[in-house]
Amino acid sequence: MSLCPCALRSCFLATIGLLLALLLVGCGGGSTAVAPPSSPPPQNLTADQKADNLIVQMTIDEKIQMVHGGAALDWWNHVVPRGGAGWIPGILRLNIPDLYFADGSVGVGDSVGQATALPSSIASAASWDRGEAYKYGQVVGSELRSLGVNVNLGGNVNLPGREPRGGRTFETKGEDPILAGKIAAAHLQAIQDEYVIAGIKHFGMNDQETGRTTANVQIDERAARECDLLAFEIAAKDSNVQSAMCSYNLVNGTYACELAWLLNSVLKGDWAFPGFVMSDWDATHSTVTAAESGLDQEQPETIYFGANLQQAVQSGQVPQTRLDNMVHRILRAMFTVAIFDHSATLQEIDAAGDAAIAQEVEEQGAVLLKNNGILPLESKKITSIAVIGSHADIGVLSGGGSAQVIPVGGPALVEGQPCPPCWAKVIWVPSSPLQAIQKKASGASVKFDDGTSLASAVALAVASDVAIVFVSQWESEGMDLPNLNFTDLIHETPVDQDALVEGVAAGNPNTIVVMENGGAQMMPWLDSVAAVLEAWYPGQRGGNAIANILFGDVNPSGKLPLTFPAHVADLPRPVIATPKDSITPFPVDYTVDGYNTGYKWYERQGFTPLFPFGFGLTYTTFAMSNAQVSATTTGNNFGFQLSLQLQNTGRVPGAEVVQVYLELPASTGEPRRLVGWQKVLLTPGQQQVVTIQVNGNDSSHPLSYWDSNSHAWVAPPGTYNVYLGNSSTAVSAVGSFEMP
Ligand code: BGC
Repeated sequence: MSLCPCALRSCFLATIGLLLALLLVGCGGGSTAVAPPSSPPPQNLTADQKADNLIVQMTIDEKIQMVHGGAALDWWNHVVPRGGAGWIPGILRLNIPDLYFADGSVGVGDSVGQATALPSSIASAASWDRGEAYKYGQVVGSELRSLGVNVNLGGNVNLPGREPRGGRTFETKGEDPILAGKIAAAHLQAIQDEYVIAGIKHFGMNDQETGRTTANVQIDERAARECDLLAFEIAAKDSNVQSAMCSYNLVNGTYACELAWLLNSVLKGDWAFPGFVMSDWDATHSTVTAAESGLDQEQPETIYFGANLQQAVQSGQVPQTRLDNMVHRILRAMFTVAIFDHSATLQEIDAAGDAAIAQEVEEQGAVLLKNNGILPLESKKITSIAVIGSHADIGVLSGGGSAQVIPVGGPALVEGQPCPPCWAKVIWVPSSPLQAIQKKASGASVKFDDGTSLASAVALAVASDVAIVFVSQWESEGMDLPNLNFTDLIHETPVDQDALVEGVAAGNPNTIVVMENGGAQMMPWLDSVAAVLEAWYPGQRGGNAIANILFGDVNPSGKLPLTFPAHVADLPRPVIATPKDSITPFPVDYTVDGYNTGYKWYERQGFTPLFPFGFGLTYTTFAMSNAQVSATTTGNNFGFQLSLQLQNTGRVPGAEVVQVYLELPASTGEPRRLVGWQKVLLTPGQQQVVTIQVNGNDSSHPLSYWDSNSHAWVAPPGTYNVYLGNSSTAVSAVGSFEMP
């Protein structure tokens, strides 16, 4: 370590004021010559001005420090401070705080610490409720901050309609770009309101885990803009999110993290995204190309954006202004989210309050798929209940990978290797459906069978009034599902769960199936069972939420945010594209479904799904009447308004999701699309006028198609037909309007 000149004896003879001044000037930056820090910027400066004020004081070393991960090559060994996925050390002399990165699609991920296991993001989308989604984001954001993290790696808005077997479907917000974008925006806004930089990922078209680092998605501009990218566009514009993560895969032959069209033209250009782009972990492939294409930060390593970038800037290969812009974007994000003023100091999370929100999200997001009238259960009329399978005695399943949360109270069970680290373990969250059911039916005999012996499970079902079979499908980053059946549970004791349900249902006609899974499923036994509840990964209080729904304390109101296809053969790509080795790019052809992704694909092909997008039953009934459509114009903003009378015609309070679909003029070739919705809670007999306004200038471009010739959104003149309903297939035409 070199001696600082002010350590000389003569310094000590100087006045204290002089000594302090010398210390500031001479010792502040170690051996590199640095500009002295200026006085703190006045509060009324914009985030841009504050960032600029810092940049003029920074050395090139300091700038480079901000544009790559600081975790070094052995980050997998959890050397990252605070246990997250990544870290950028702060710059003390300029009061720039450390950045700590952790996943957060379904709660605080990366084994950072015990946190509230929220129901999966797909359950949040299934609530179709932006207010509920905001609460979800608040839990993620506030818990990240309490665990010392100030950058969230959540915001997965990839569209699982492209690959319903995708291992990360549980992290997504479903197959429709508008629903996904709006739900994600509510999450992201809430996270940033908790002083944590939120993020959108994986940008873009990262829909399968099979060969995810070499998958080369073939897609045309219109399909990308109208589907995959639209979800990101809405999420970004509606939330002011400050970071984006480019994905591992290639798009039309170029890695997403060095695809200038994607990062520079679309994200930063057309959408005016103000934040910074970080690479997915080890998804950076070059220095000059990536920097010039719009990548602002390499994560988590130093391979391309460390010394190599410094050299490229010093030799003029990458302009100094580009490096300054990278740093500017990162600092501006930090100021915009106010993390300079609100440090992520370690503190207790509000476990009880957050668990209550987790329960509420599950109660709003669980989807009742079938009910022959057996539900809700009437505890007084039941003397015996068989609860079978999926460790329902101790907990509920969660999804794996970087999104995995270590639940409050610790896992009820970990299958596989010891945990933490918990990256790819099968983790059961400690919320026992069995105990919650026992509480509801305290007068009945409620017995559990683990389902590993079909004979024993059937015997218990036969001897009981009602059988509730829990089936589960573990999903994780790093793998895709081989099929959409429940036969393949990755489990220490493998169980053919489809056969289990068939057997139990044959023994007891009052068989109810509760599904814990991340996305679409096939149900070969559907006709044999009395009821089916889609509980997704139900989270920290999943057991209570499930029991509340089964016994009618909560009326289910969730609606599917993705189609459940009837056959694997109906998928756009029945066989998942597979790489031949680990380095050679291989094609994944999205031109098959193009801009008809999700429900639009099934409709166009004439395939009847097992359950359509938007579908979900309740314990009450609703009537929609008197629907009226009128065109609206405010300045240049053309749109329409739909109003209708909604009445709860049943005997219990309940919520309906009124869904509005739109058909653009036939000349566009556009499929019918969801353009608006409202979730309305009504007491028995109550009526309400529901008004849904759809504006052409909304971030979702509801009246437009992407014109690849003019490279622009176009709302063509002609007739627009409006449909109203409560799923993508249960709709009726209610009016139309003309676009001049
Ligand atoms: C995942 C990202 C995640 C990152 C850090 C990657 O493997 O694809 O979603 O944010 O790891 O954990």
